[in-house]
Amino acid sequence: MLSGLAISIQKRLETTPRYRYWRRRLYATRSKALAFVKMLRRGRELATSPVTTPGVFGHLPKPRPSVLEVDLPELRRRVEAAFDETDALKQTLNLSEPYDRDQLKLRVGEPILRRFNWTRDYDAVVGFQEDNFSLNFTDFIMTRRFEEAFRRDLRHAVGDRTQGIFIIEIDEEVVAFLWIAIFGNNWTGERYGYVNNLYVRPDFRHQGLGKQLMEKAEAFFRSRGIRKVRLTVSSNNPPAVNLYQKMGYRTERLEMEKELR
Ligand SMILES: CC(C)(COP(=O)(O)OP(=O)(O)OC[C@H]1O[C@@H](n2cnc3c(N)ncnc32)[C@H](O)[C@@H]1OP(=O)(O)O)[C@@H](O)C(=O)NCCC(=O)NCCS
Repeated sequence: MLSGLAISIQKRLETTPRYRYWRRRLYATRSKALAFVKMLRRGRELATSPVTTPGVFGHLPKPRPSVLEVDLPELRRRVEAAFDETDALKQTLNLSEPYDRDQLKLRVGEPILRRFNWTRDYDAVVGFQEDNFSLNFTDFIMTRRFEEAFRRDLRHAVGDRTQGIFIIEIDEEVVAFLWIAIFGNNWTGERYGYVNNLYVRPDFRHQGLGKQLMEKAEAFFRSRGIRKVRLTVSSNNPPAVNLYQKMGYRTERLEMEKELR
């Protein structure tokens, strides 16, 4: 831990113009790089973009219609180099870590699995639910009532230690969601983990994100002493059934249904 004296020295260093310049450049580089990558994804032309940071993007190919030809690994290498440069400067100035490098470090295109954050993630997550429920319940219609109930239950779950809510973000966009809970059976005394909601955005499927979230679920339960996981999946949802089977889940009970006329 830093002593009070060290903290005050660091604070003074942080106010030096040179340091402030580099810190500004660091933030600018990161947000511009993210904007750039998003733009590439949308397939817009480089020419229409305000993103032109000399030194980082200066040597990229000239704008042309096929922007997707831009070398993403090369872009990532340059941005990482800019961050390394900033870190080197911090060492020269003998600064201790003034911010969480992991949070700032740019990871272009890399999935980041983290806890759900209500303010940042709720809109994306509720937006997933129409597709999610329509795929699993043939008659599903998204209503205001559904949204209110979903919002209420999720809000409650955020503060509940027996529930886990995670998302995967890529380039600051939420692309996948997992909501799990620990349940207990009052009659048998059994405790088990339950997968309540799992969703991967269609344009990010088949990249192993569903599996990654399920592994997270299992780690969550294991670390809390839970040794059994259950879930319900619609039999006409082969992607989900395959995912679970591949991860070792077996059918133990059948949920049966009959339409009454
Ligand atoms: C089910 C779902 C979460 C899978 O996510 P994903 O990120 O695409 O899955 P992964 O890339 O991790 O794939 C893992 C395995 O799932 C199976 N799988 C995934 N998509 C599949 C598809 N379209 N058809 C058949 N099997 C599929 C495969 O066995 C795959 O392993 P493989 O790539 O080695 O063959 C995703 O399709 C989804 O969000 N569906 C809509 C919501 C939903 O139905 N959720 C489950 C509710 S119970």
